[in-house]
Amino acid sequence: MIYGHIIGQNIMEIILKLIHYLSIFAAGGIGVGGAVIQSIYTKANKIPEPHLGKAFKVLGIIGLISIIILWISGLTLVNLIYGSFSIHWAFHMKLFGALIVLAASAFGNFHLHASSKNQTAPNTILMKRIASIGRIGLVAALLGAAIAFS
Ligand code: HEM
Repeated sequence: MIYGHIIGQNIMEIILKLIHYLSIFAAGGIGVGGAVIQSIYTKANKIPEPHLGKAFKVLGIIGLISIIILWISGLTLVNLIYGSFSIHWAFHMKLFGALIVLAASAFGNFHLHASSKNQTAPNTILMKRIASIGRIGLVAALLGAAIAFS
């Protein structure tokens, strides 16, 4: 890997892992924060005010970007450290979890975008289900990482 030789494989691995962990932090934080606010509004049977709806959209986009960065840094780490995907069975469980997280985030963003374009309120039940599926994916990815890299 050409850039590994330029700045040293170790430095590259450290930088990529830092980016990987920061994006887990961002994606996880947004997932939890968004879910807490959503559940308070659902329990009160209220629709979030327009400015809060906008905040949800921005959080959704930041969440999606951080998951894409997680995938890019993860793929680069696989290439740098292992050179192939035949790492451990749990690593494939991790990738499946990470795919669920990516799909849930992309679908959630798509729904928020379509609702604001049609000037309709997002479907709170659908958004709640998407968030739960995303959380299951995150737990699977973390469990897979814990087993594969221990
Ligand atoms: C939701 C998605 C993801 C989460 C929560 C996650 C979590 C983690 C965690 C916690 C570690 C540290 C493991 C340790 O050192 O014990 C890690 C390392 C790593 N992850 Fe991810 N990750 C995700 C997505 C990905 C993806 C999509 C890939 C590859 C396509 C990937 C590849 C890697 C690699 C290669 C390492 C370094 C392992 C090593 O040090 O040997 N990750 N990840």
